[in-house]
Amino acid sequence: MRTAPLPAQLLYGRLLATTVQHLLGDGPPPQARLRLVDGRTEPLPLERWLGPIDAADAVVLDRATPPVLDIGCGPGRHSAALRAAGKPALGVDLSPVAVRLARGRGAAAIARSVFADVPGMGRWRTALLLDGNIGIGGDPAGLLHRVATLLAPHGTALVELGAPGSGTYRTRVRLEAPGAVSEWFGWARVSVDGIGRIAAEAGLAVGETVAVEGRRFASLAVAGPDRSSRRIVPLRTRDPVGP
Ligand SMILES: C[S@@+](CC[C@H](N)C(=O)[O-])C[C@H]1O[C@@H](n2cnc3c(N)ncnc32)[C@H](O)[C@@H]1O
Repeated sequence: MRTAPLPAQLLYGRLLATTVQHLLGDGPPPQARLRLVDGRTEPLPLERWLGPIDAADAVVLDRATPPVLDIGCGPGRHSAALRAAGKPALGVDLSPVAVRLARGRGAAAIARSVFADVPGMGRWRTALLLDGNIGIGGDPAGLLHRVATLLAPHGTALVELGAPGSGTYRTRVRLEAPGAVSEWFGWARVSVDGIGRIAAEAGLAVGETVAVEGRRFASLAVAGPDRSSRRIVPLRTRDPVGP
């Protein structure tokens, strides 16, 4: 019998909770994965999101000027590390379970979509989009345009990107675990060689790009108080919208 798809945030919360139990020595890991609409699957790195930051994260966080908005903070490893370093930071995430976990490790976090009413609009000096979060919403230019409205004049977005040649595309994905699947939702991937035109479309300028421990990051700058000039460049859609 096929089980009905669950709302993605519901299944994600359950998977986080199961992973926490597993890390506490109670039960197996959930063996969760991400399925792309073209059929490819990838493991869902829940233990990484629940673990500490690594050396590459530390290099990026070192460049973050407070106050920092951690967009899609998940269980809050980056926000918690920033606060431990004395840098005021706020995590924002759709998942109430993730937000609870983030608060439990010392981060300030709120359960909210980045597209909803986020506090401090136009005052954040840095916005983080780490570990694939440039994909949130499935429209990276739209997301970056939203980020530009949240940042202070001359603020910076620090964004993690895919390897050169790994592709820049919009897709749809779902979460899968034994006995459960989520509904499909929009996601996107942006490689380091694809960020220029997307940032330009959102009115942001690519500054420094860095490769650390096999990961790639770019800083995107808000030019100044005038955010009205938005150059529209269509993003190639590799996958059909569906299913
Ligand atoms: C790839 S996980 C990243 C977790 C965390 N940044 C980390 O690296 O440990 C993506 C996160 O984005 C959150 N998310 C998805 N859509 C969102 C939205 N519209 N607004 C805020 N958070 C969102 C998900 O709930 C999830 O926690």
